[in-house]
Formats: sequence, structure tokens, C-alpha cells
Amino acid sequence: MQHDVIIACDFKSAADTFRFLDLFANEERKPFLKIGMELYYAEGPSIVREIKRRGHKIFLDLKLHDIPNTVRKAMAVLSQLDVDMCNVHAAGTIEMMKAAREGLTREDGTRPLLIAVTQLTSTSEERMQRELLIGASIDETIVQYARNTREAGLDGVVCSPLEAGMVHEACGTGFLTITPGVRFADGDVADQVRVTTPARAREIGSDFIVVGRPITAAADPVAAYHRCVREFLNE
Ligand code: C5P
Repeated sequence: MQHDVIIACDFKSAADTFRFLDLFANEERKPFLKIGMELYYAEGPSIVREIKRRGHKIFLDLKLHDIPNTVRKAMAVLSQLDVDMCNVHAAGTIEMMKAAREGLTREDGTRPLLIAVTQLTSTSEERMQRELLIGASIDETIVQYARNTREAGLDGVVCSPLEAGMVHEACGTGFLTITPGVRFADGDVADQVRVTTPARAREIGSDFIVVGRPITAAADPVAAYHRCVREFLNE
């Protein structure tokens, strides 16, 4: 079973990103990084190539959601970028997720990990029911979207660490949970609401934790990363 700490590189430019990554230049363990829409749209595929060249694994968090044919073709492009993990919205349907998997699979049969977003943690149950006309509870919706994700042949879902146990119960322990919303016990929560510590996230069953500001905004980001790895992987 694979477990790792993924640092969310929520920087606005390549220059800011490399200033941060230079701090890790002498580290033996190159951190697994998440690149989101802001950085990717600002810098394009070259930022992915450059970070790969420096030896990091990359989770490209672009959350694709479109008609199956478009998603299949976009994923075929991303598979050539050699990222290690990418994602779609489960709301795009099982058919769209299957198309994503097909598009991402290279000629030799290999592909990056492919995961789905269930309901964004910014969506409250009240809004989901009133605006999206989804009558079920948010937990039932998350479990159903996770089951759809597994049926489409994807590898796992993004969810809150507090939901990881529920997802594993429904979809099995081999189905991956990638969980943001992680804070050190003595740290600043900022705008996250439902948070947990790296050690607790591991206990509940997170396979990968995505950690941004507790590392990127720390006085000593390398030390904060090491602390996170130590607490999550119990190393
Ligand atoms: O700085 P912080 O640790 O809160 O960063 C968490 C990262 O995970 C950010 O990149 C945020 O966009 C992402 N994320 C999240 N909640 C979700 C999905 C993604 O916080 N439900």
C-alpha cells in the first residue's frame, strides 16, 4: 500500500514555486507535489516538465469535468506529461470517468493514478440539496460517488480525512483516499473547517494527505515537511 505526504504548491508563478522548491534542493526525499489550476493556467505544461526534471512526483489537480469525448482527449494529452496522479469530477458520470481512464492509459498499458472529486468540501449539504436538487444526505452522496468511481475503474477519491473510513468501508481498503484539510495539533487552521492532524488522518485511513500552508507558510518549510512525514508515515 502506498502512502505519502503531498505538498500543495499553491503559488502564483514558476518563480515563487522554484524559490520554495530550492529549499528542498539538498533533500534526499523529493516531496510529492500538487499543482493546481492557478499555477498550471499561469505557467502551462512547462512547469510540470521542469518540476518532474527536478525529481518530484506530481499530482496535477485540474478536476476535469466535460463530455466523455473531450475528457478522453484531454487526458491523453496529460498522460504524455508524465504526471503521477490526476483527477476528474465524479459528477461527470461513470461514462465520463471511464473515458478519462481510457484517455490516460498509454500505449504500453501504464497510466498515472486517476482519482475523482466526490462533493467538494466547500459544498454544504444544505446547498447541495437546495441548489443541486440532490435529495440524499451529503455522506450518502459521497459514498455513491465513490462507488461510481470504483465502478469506472479509477483508483480512489479526494475527500475529507474524516470521510476516509466511510469510503474504505464502501469501496475497500485498496481504494485510495487523498485527503486535504490537515493541520498540526498546535497549528493555525486558517479557512479550513473540518481538519485533522497527520497522525489522526493516517489512523482514520487516509492514503495520501495534501498539505499546503502548514508547510508552505511555515518559518522552516523543510522542517514542517519532515514533521508531517514523521507524523503521517510514523517514520
Ligand atoms: O493550505 P491547505 O493545507 O489548506 O491546502 C489544502 C489544499 O487542498 C489546497 O490546494 C486546496 O485547494 C486543496 N483542497 C482542499 N479541499 C478540498 C479539495 C482540495 O483544501 N476539498
